[in-house]
Amino acid sequence: MIVTIVGTGYVGLVTGACLASQGHTVRCVDVSEERVNLIRAGQAPFYEPGLEDLLREGLASGRLSVTTNLPTAMEGSDLSLIAVGTPSKAGQANLPGLEPDLSYLETAAHQIGVELRTLGRYHVVAVKSTVIPGTTRRVVQKVLEAASGMQLGEFGLCMNPEFLREGTAVEDFLNPDRIVIGQADARSGDFLDDLYRPFDCEKPRVGIEEAELTKYASNALLSVLISFSNELAGLCEATPGADVETVMEGLYLDRRLSPTVQGVRIRPEILSYLRAGIGFGGSCLPKDVNALRVYGQRSGVPTPLLDAVMATNAARPAQVLWIAQTALGTLAGKTIALLGVAFKAGTDDLRSSPALSILRALETRGARVQAFDPVVSAEAAERAGLNGAYRQTLESAVEGADAAVITTADPAFRNADWARLSSGMRTPILIDGRNVLRHVTLPALVRYYPIGKGARLADERCGADTRVCRVETRLDAFRVLTSTAETAKAAH
Ligand SMILES: NC(=O)c1ccc[n+]([C@@H]2O[C@H](COP(=O)([O-])OP(=O)(O)OC[C@H]3O[C@@H](n4cnc5c(N)ncnc54)[C@H](O)[C@@H]3O)[C@@H](O)[C@H]2O)c1
Repeated sequence: MIVTIVGTGYVGLVTGACLASQGHTVRCVDVSEERVNLIRAGQAPFYEPGLEDLLREGLASGRLSVTTNLPTAMEGSDLSLIAVGTPSKAGQANLPGLEPDLSYLETAAHQIGVELRTLGRYHVVAVKSTVIPGTTRRVVQKVLEAASGMQLGEFGLCMNPEFLREGTAVEDFLNPDRIVIGQADARSGDFLDDLYRPFDCEKPRVGIEEAELTKYASNALLSVLISFSNELAGLCEATPGADVETVMEGLYLDRRLSPTVQGVRIRPEILSYLRAGIGFGGSCLPKDVNALRVYGQRSGVPTPLLDAVMATNAARPAQVLWIAQTALGTLAGKTIALLGVAFKAGTDDLRSSPALSILRALETRGARVQAFDPVVSAEAAERAGLNGAYRQTLESAVEGADAAVITTADPAFRNADWARLSSGMRTPILIDGRNVLRHVTLPALVRYYPIGKGARLADERCGADTRVCRVETRLDAFRVLTSTAETAKAAH
């Protein structure tokens, strides 16, 4: 098939490269000339394992091309996939009540619609971007009809949500667990069925709104599991002697969560979302949960569960701040190594990263931050405004620090030589926001503070009235985070 893909971000470019590897002729389009030139040279504009090999393969075979010119990319094309961004409008995905910005989607639909007029053949448009229920019909279909002067039926329409995860996007795309085909009619759905013929998995054919909702349901479930784990971590932190890791282990052993198959206990991947940490971030989960809440508000359906998920998530970076502040007495004038700035390990995506919330809150408190991430380049850090704070190596980030805070579960932090690294710190305090060093033997001098463990810290600093002290310090830390977020929002 000849496929046009509009948008060459994580979804569009991975989709394009993978579909070309399966024999389709793929033409990718992006408005960014810089991005297009980079891709033409066989370079991915972001870190994604395996992507550059596929790009070079596709470009060399002639099956993959990239352009800024949509009309050229649509000549003789059977199918257009829209994979443009749908970011939260206010750009602060952790704040409640935010809806997606549909302007990129509307522009892409309009441009495709104009081309439909002259295409002279039946063509299907499929939305891969994540959109709230009703958007594909109310926005995309309407814009396509207005721009083309045609009616649905003269062209086809689908909603085909994407489930890939950054960091394993190529692997996920090539080995899908499901391909959900939301179809306006059977003829439209047949085109997607053809497109995905090389992939062996369940391909439910559903209504367009059901496809839109399936994507949100999937991300909402993951966010619920993460916030559940973090709330439990908070309860463990307030319980002397309790450790969230032990409690979670007991939970995992439920055979409904980890069944024994032929004598071997299976640990399904979903358990990785049942882990305490610093909260979720990235370009999808916070934005999608908020979008679903907005949809609920508009539809008159309360979403107290999702509201609580976001509240728990927003409070999580404050927990790390509280630990740092309590361990050091004050943050003013202290040097803090922030290990990890991307929203999770294995990606260089800094969008809505909880590590960045922690970084800004530390700086607001007068701390000097030395940040490092094994996957994030100095240029990407600079683009995110981290210039002064960013260091090129783990060693230089930790050197002279009063404390190090681990914010992503990158294996480089687990495998580091902490005896050597901690000897270069002013005080060897390690705050483990992802619990990655739990099973690592650390030098005896290191003061190690994991997430979700007992009340040792509060007891150390607060004396008799630990409960009041803990609550007050945490509220204080939360206030700093909230005001930092509001300042960022105002600046945006
Ligand atoms: N990133 C993920 O892991 C992921 C996973 C599943 C679904 N999604 C969803 O997929 C969509 C895309 O996400 P992403 O992370 O790939 O976005 P992105 O922001 O990384 O990329 C979007 C690209 O579209 C381009 N673009 C915008 N308007 C255009 C136009 N009119 N014509 C051509 N190009 C245009 C931009 O220049 C940009 O390169 C979003 O709705 C997102 O929620 C993302």
